[in-house]
Order: sequence, then structure tokens, then C-alpha cells
Amino acid sequence: MNLAGKRAIVTGAAGALGRVIADHLAAAGADVAGLDLNADGLATVADQVRKHGVEALAVPADLTDFAAVDAAAGRVVDAWGGVDILVNGAGGGAVAPFHEMTAQVWATQIDRNLTTVFNVTRAVLPSMLAQRHGRIVNIASIAAVSGGRLVRNATAYAAAKAGVIGLTKALAIEVAEAGVTVNCLAPGAQATPGRDRDTPQRREELLAQIPTRLLGEPDHLAETVVFLASPAAVNITGVILPLDGGHSI
Ligand SMILES: NC(=O)c1ccc[n+]([C@@H]2O[C@H](COP(=O)([O-])OP(=O)(O)OC[C@H]3O[C@@H](n4cnc5c(N)ncnc54)[C@H](O)[C@@H]3O)[C@@H](O)[C@H]2O)c1
Repeated sequence: MNLAGKRAIVTGAAGALGRVIADHLAAAGADVAGLDLNADGLATVADQVRKHGVEALAVPADLTDFAAVDAAAGRVVDAWGGVDILVNGAGGGAVAPFHEMTAQVWATQIDRNLTTVFNVTRAVLPSMLAQRHGRIVNIASIAAVSGGRLVRNATAYAAAKAGVIGLTKALAIEVAEAGVTVNCLAPGAQATPGRDRDTPQRREELLAQIPTRLLGEPDHLAETVVFLASPAAVNITGVILPLDGGHSI
């Protein structure tokens, strides 16, 4: 899958999945701009991206801040003249029993997982519409599909990610004729470094709920992003794709 000459933005690029996605997009030939709160992490990812012989930009920003996102995305569009691929990967969960959840936990989860997707997509979409080409891949979670059986007490996270699914479908319809596709991955538990903290009992609890008895591999998720960004996926839009080993069946 050749993405040579394509210009990609990956949000959450300093994170466990984002850095792998950035690397795979670059390996396929795309220039990659990372947007994340973590400036040091972005710099490391940019170095990794450049090893593939493509261009990299590291643009630190708080993606919950509309004006900051507008400026960050503007930097990329100004530098490269447009954006072809947007991967909305920034996010992350917090758990709290619903009956004890504070308004602040609720608001933070919605901001981090849903408002970030609005802010970045809103900033990038005009350039995609102008060039009549764009690929948007959002990263939700299986928590939004199956109610979070893999991670208990994640109602705010699940609600925010369900918002990402709704946004994906509605936007896919809105921009389809303009040559922009909008799809969404719904990953189950991934084999990211954080999972190394699982006790053997917790690992067994997780695997017992996954028909394949496999955690998701970040490389496989990243290759799915590359596929959705590739010419082969031109007629795929509005899809919510669980990457969960059959957990949500
Ligand atoms: N890892 C999993 O098992 C899993 C499963 C399902 C869904 N997901 C989703 O995949 C995405 C990536 O997950 P991950 O495991 O790489 O998480 P991670 O915590 O390793 O990375 C998330 C990145 O997002 C960035 N971020 C968070 N809030 C931000 C903000 N306001 N502005 C800018 N950057 C911000 C963080 O700095 C971090 O680098 C997340 O949306 C997560 O909800 C992950």
C-alpha cells in the first residue's frame, strides 16, 4: 500500500498506538505530522519517521483547545499545502463508578476523547474539501460498542467514544461526495506497554472474554489505518471496525 506523496496528521502520535501508526504511515511513504501534548515524545517519533526518508513535523498542542488546534493544524497546512490523511488517535480513559463520578471527570473524558476529534477534524477538513480528497480514521474503542466489559466503570469514556462513532457516521455522509472518507476503528485491549502491568489473573480475565484469546497487536492496528488511508479503501466510508478478536460478537 503506497502512500508516497501523501501528507498525514496523527494525533496522540507520542502515545503507544500513535507512534506505531506514525511509523507505519511513514513506512508506506507518507509525510507525518504528529500532534500531541507530549513534546519530547513527539520529537522522538519525528526522528523515527524521518528514518523512512519522509518528512516529519512535531507540533505540540493541547487538542482540547480549539484555538490551539487551529494554529497547530494551520502550521501543517501552511508547511505542506494540505493534509490527505488524518488519524484521530489522541485520547485515553479514566475509570470511576458512575454513582461517584464527579462532573470534572465526566467533562475531562468528553473533552479528551470527543472534543479533540471535533477540534482537529474541524481544523483539517477545509483543506481536504478544497482538494476534494481526504482520509479520516478515528480511533474509538470497543467500550463504546460493548459497554466496556473489558474495562469496568468506564461510562464517561464509553460515552465519549460512542460520540466518536456517531460523528464518524454523520460526517461520512456529509463529506462523501467531496472525496473524503471517514472511518473508525473500535479496538479491544491492545498489547501496548501498559498491559505489562496486568497480573496473570487480570490477563486471564481479559483473554477469557476474547474469542481468539489474543490481545490486539499495535502493528496490525497501524496496518489497518494504512489500508483505510490507501487507494484500495476509496469506497469504504462510515465503517466502525472492531479490532477485538471477536469480543463484541
Ligand atoms: N491501548 C488500548 O488498548 C486501546 C484500546 C481501545 C482504544 N484505545 C484508544 O486508542 C487511542 C490511543 O491509545 P494509546 O494506548 O496509544 O494511549 P496513550 O495514552 O499511550 O496515548 C494517548 C496519547 O494522546 C495524547 N493526548 C491525550 N490527551 C491529549 C490532549 N488533550 N491533547 C493532545 N494530546 C493528548 C497523550 O499525550 C498520549 O500521547 C486512544 O484514543 C485510546 O482511547 C486504546
